[in-house]
Amino acid sequence: MNYKINTYGCQMNVHESEKIASILRGIGYTDYENSNEKDYDIIVFNTCCIRDTAEQKILSHIGELKHEKKLNPNLIIAIVGCMSQQDGKMQLLTEKYPHIDIVLGTSNIDMLAECVLNLKQSKIHTYLIDDSERPEINEGKNYYRTSGANAWVNIMYGCDNFCTYCIVPYVRGRERSRTVSDIVCEVTVLINQGYKEITLLGQNVNSYGSDKKVTGADFAELLETLAQIKGNHRIRFMTSHPKDLNSRVIEIIAKYDTLCKSIHLPIQSGSNSILKAMNRGYTREYYLNVVTKIRAIMPECGITTDIMVGFPGETETDFEDTLDIIRNVAFNSAFTYIYSVRKGTVAASLPQIPYAIKSERIQRLIKEQNLLTKISSKACEGKTYRVLVESVKSVGKVSGRTDAGRLVTFDGGEDLVGQFRNVLISKTQSASLFGTIEEN
Ligand code: SAH
Ligand code: SF4
Ligand code: F3S
Repeated sequence: MNYKINTYGCQMNVHESEKIASILRGIGYTDYENSNEKDYDIIVFNTCCIRDTAEQKILSHIGELKHEKKLNPNLIIAIVGCMSQQDGKMQLLTEKYPHIDIVLGTSNIDMLAECVLNLKQSKIHTYLIDDSERPEINEGKNYYRTSGANAWVNIMYGCDNFCTYCIVPYVRGRERSRTVSDIVCEVTVLINQGYKEITLLGQNVNSYGSDKKVTGADFAELLETLAQIKGNHRIRFMTSHPKDLNSRVIEIIAKYDTLCKSIHLPIQSGSNSILKAMNRGYTREYYLNVVTKIRAIMPECGITTDIMVGFPGETETDFEDTLDIIRNVAFNSAFTYIYSVRKGTVAASLPQIPYAIKSERIQRLIKEQNLLTKISSKACEGKTYRVLVESVKSVGKVSGRTDAGRLVTFDGGEDLVGQFRNVLISKTQSASLFGTIEEN
């Protein structure tokens, strides 16, 4: 029996798919490489609904499976993740796509095994979105991992920030932090198993342990504890929310070699009135001050970001404030998005700006950021960085990332995967760096 998991969305989902794989393997399924979807016994869609584009892509893929299911009526199709949890989506999924067998909300994935067995043994379909608090799936267990030298570790779930454009708090529920002892235990096991990179995951890692009585530490203390675990590895974390990234965290990142000098710090906009309307909880001046603090003690720290254009009410002046701040900060790289209306969020009820304006702004933003990315990469030429080799890129070429998160390609083979190498950068091309291993 073979399974396939189609994963959409953020790293949280990538990791959750590992947990889903572990559940399926527990009931006898194995993974299998096949381009023909009708040849699978079960296909799970682990979905995302952060933007309309994500949803449309998933829905069209689910639609295509109608034909495959006709060819193979035993194929089980299950939909889990953020999109199933979205208000009104269950009805759409079950009415418009009757070939779906199972739909589970974000807090019900632990029931997947039971649902599959019910379907196979008793032909019972499960369509369940249950909002009650349930334990996280397989927390702390030894998952089937597919992430190579890197291992993902959730430190928290959900989000309490309610940025006015964002669906995440509605589909992922309230913020829940795991305890320090659970996290330390999981990370220690992973390091002993030989993982070379641990990435701590949370929608806003900086608010980890907002109830310290429950977790035993806040984010700065958690990082410091993890940084002291001995071994040949490095630790990353994402995502940082600017409003909660305090000086103590910055100082701890600077203090320990095991902590990557890399911070993903979504700015969203450079305009104070838009930041206020987004409920982001900081101003452009505050953001710039955080960047100044980081660079004062870690000049080589990689700072990357997320930027959005076309939020309701964004004027040309607001957009120019965004262009101005990205020139000012000079991010290593950035993810850029067009604002997408999410039903049920505060911003959905505000007057929207025309698509043509959004589209024109994103093109200007991308052009500007591409230029800045190129300059930022070029500054690496002639310098040596420690790179963790992640994969073989093509025959005789491997690629990996620096501590700051820059992607580097150089000569090498399979034997280097999962190892650290010092690489001298000789050439750069937009966000990509090229170099040669330095013998030492
Ligand atoms: N928790 C993270 C981000 C999670 S979502 C944080 O707060 O930074 C990842 C990115 O998607 C966000 O940073 C934002 O730029 C983008 N995003 C979220 N909602 C969006 C929407 N409705 N339309 C367009 N982009 C959105
Ligand atoms: Fe969404 Fe804001 Fe939470 Fe990030 S912090 S997940 S953007 S609500
Ligand atoms: Fe992630 Fe998308 Fe959900 S970005 S948290 S998978 S809505």
